[in-house]
Amino acid sequence: MLEQIRHIREEFDRELRESVDPSALEALRIKFLARKGLIARLFEQLRTVAPDEKPAVGKALNELRAYAQSAYDEAIGRKKGRSTEVRVDLSLPGRPRPVGTRHPITQTIEDLKRIFARMGFGIAYGPDIEDDYHNFTALNFPPDHPARDMQDTFFISKNVLLRTHTSPVQIRVMKSQPPPVRVIIPGRVYRNEAVSARSHVIFHQIEALSIDRNVTFSELKGTLVSFVRQLYGSSVKYKFRPTFFPFTEPSADMYISCFICNQKGCPVCKYNGWLEILGSGMVHPNVLRHGGYDPRRYSGFAFGMGIERAALLRYGIDDIRLYFENDVRFLRQF
Ligand code: DAH
Repeated sequence: MLEQIRHIREEFDRELRESVDPSALEALRIKFLARKGLIARLFEQLRTVAPDEKPAVGKALNELRAYAQSAYDEAIGRKKGRSTEVRVDLSLPGRPRPVGTRHPITQTIEDLKRIFARMGFGIAYGPDIEDDYHNFTALNFPPDHPARDMQDTFFISKNVLLRTHTSPVQIRVMKSQPPPVRVIIPGRVYRNEAVSARSHVIFHQIEALSIDRNVTFSELKGTLVSFVRQLYGSSVKYKFRPTFFPFTEPSADMYISCFICNQKGCPVCKYNGWLEILGSGMVHPNVLRHGGYDPRRYSGFAFGMGIERAALLRYGIDDIRLYFENDVRFLRQF
């Protein structure tokens, strides 16, 4: 009987090797594995085997059946182009990878950096947490100036505060290098204001500082005019109006023509046709002195502007709070 089992296994192996197509495999299955196949018939013969040989023969038969079944299963899988190995289906569509966008404030800062880099400005940064000296005193704020009022400033302690503008970095830059200086300073600033569509406790500014021998007000104007033409287009109209900042003398606010209504009057320009976009001026001699520069030898100009407002004008955004909510439905539009 064991002899017969070995025989059938050899016969099965030979015929399996020769079965090259599905119909041959089917014939093989019927011959060996079907209910009336050779292997089933061997099981029937098991009854006639002597009792003491039964365990060994039964075991060999079970092994033959398991072996033949799995060899057949594997062969039929291969014929159908499937196997038990993992396969890569190159026809599957790819998984979409959503592409993010940069925040409109970041995009605006990068555009401004590019424009000023072309005009020879480097970039400087300073700390968001400042001391009273850099934020106010060194910038020539008189002790009783209203901007020092608790209303506007987030104080951390008596002399430590969240900077209310990027101007303190002017002092830090001057202290860290000899003249000439030509930098822009982007960054976050903080003010203790009621949050509304128009104002927020956090916003961004970009500051510029240019110091050398014989820097003049006309150089300041030339720089600003070139800048607004690059950002808002060459047909933009502009005007300067005298104003006051403790750290500049003389000081001027710059306005551009309202391109939203073409100066016909709209809510953005408050129906007067002009948009105030930045403050500027010639660096005050006291500020140069605090920076360690000699005002008799050096002069310079500075200006500062709000980035949210610039981005708001570019993109037509009507609520400053949208910038800080990080709602993807807003951010995805840029
Ligand atoms: N620091 C001023 C502000 O926050 C803006 C400013 C005005 C900056 C005139 C300047 C400047 O550098 O020259 O309102």
